Amino acid sequence: MPKVKNWQINRDMDYPYEDSRPDKQIAYIFDTNKCIECQTCTIACKTTWTSGKGQEQIFWNNVETKPYGGYPQAWDVKLLDKLKAQRWKGDSYEGKTVFENVPFGDQVEGHRPEEDDYAHPNLGEDEITGTVEGGQYFTGIHHQWMFYLARICNHCTYPACLAACPRKAIYKRDEDGIVLVDQSRCRGYQECVKACPYKKVFYNAMTRTSEKCIGCYPRVEKGLQPRCVESCIGKIRLQGWLSKPGEARADNPIDQLVHIKKVALPLYPQYGTEPNVYYIPPVHVPRKFLEQMFGPSVETAIENYMAAKDDKEALAAMLMFGNTPQIITKCKHEDSHAVGFNDKGEEVVRVPLTEPFIVRRHYDEKFKSFRLNTA
Ligand code: SF4
Ligand code: F3S
Repeated sequence: MPKVKNWQINRDMDYPYEDSRPDKQIAYIFDTNKCIECQTCTIACKTTWTSGKGQEQIFWNNVETKPYGGYPQAWDVKLLDKLKAQRWKGDSYEGKTVFENVPFGDQVEGHRPEEDDYAHPNLGEDEITGTVEGGQYFTGIHHQWMFYLARICNHCTYPACLAACPRKAIYKRDEDGIVLVDQSRCRGYQECVKACPYKKVFYNAMTRTSEKCIGCYPRVEKGLQPRCVESCIGKIRLQGWLSKPGEARADNPIDQLVHIKKVALPLYPQYGTEPNVYYIPPVHVPRKFLEQMFGPSVETAIENYMAAKDDKEALAAMLMFGNTPQIITKCKHEDSHAVGFNDKGEEVVRVPLTEPFIVRRHYDEKFKSFRLNTA
């Protein structure tokens, strides 16, 4: 089997095809600290792409509550169990990826969810890790936690879905790295469903083919960010282009946060697919839990995230989130503002580095009147 270089696990690994990175790689950053699980992204995606017959339980985008939520149910826990020990030495992964822990006759380690696992998309929603003593909510710190994890297809550099399909019906586009299912080739074998470690390929029983997130390519081709990104009212998302390893540009907001400041990390890098959705980890969650989920650099990522308010380069990149539908390819900071540009070099975002703070006096001298908050 060919060996390919996976920078997220800092080593070469087995993959059924030769290494070939696309000309451009679509990538996303999601800030988990800002997500309020309003599911606006889920609905924006669903009403745009998956509102047809046979798509009732297909969610290309979903938001689940960790630690107990998951769609399909227990998608991650079942695979973590199968992979067994997942040790890291520094930033090098010493365990096995899904392409290396392969049962005889398969291309990829995986599991196919049961029908019931797709039946309850919101199971575990808003559930915290344990009980809280009566009144503790109001009187002091308690140690229970949860956080919201927004999920879409990762448009992986080494897609497991693509590796597993015996029909070669799944391909990765050279021009943007988006991974697609060719509906005319697909025969519904569902090896892709079993192989995707993130369970982001869905079988449609009406069409008897599989479907997945298409990265909103009709929008991306026009320089616009996908629907889930544009509609996010928490402004937790940014979509752009991730440079190849070793070619990071400081003025590219995605590179700045992934490669340079290293505040955004891949989800379960140990699976080995080199996923391209990067997460800023939640600052309040126990580190052991986060390390299993985002790898060994969690502590550094959180430290850098907390320091970003005093780091104008990182701050400028973060202020690109949710402030324009256009794809930002370049950003910079100017005295008091962060400025973003599209791929034509046009300025499309200008936001203050510090949010304006206005105090409204409760007595208005001009109108000789009191302003009272009556709401
Ligand atoms: Fe394929 Fe799953 Fe990776 Fe998406 S997340 S490219 S469906 S392996
Ligand atoms: Fe291949 Fe999956 Fe279709 S394995 S044939 S893309 S259902």
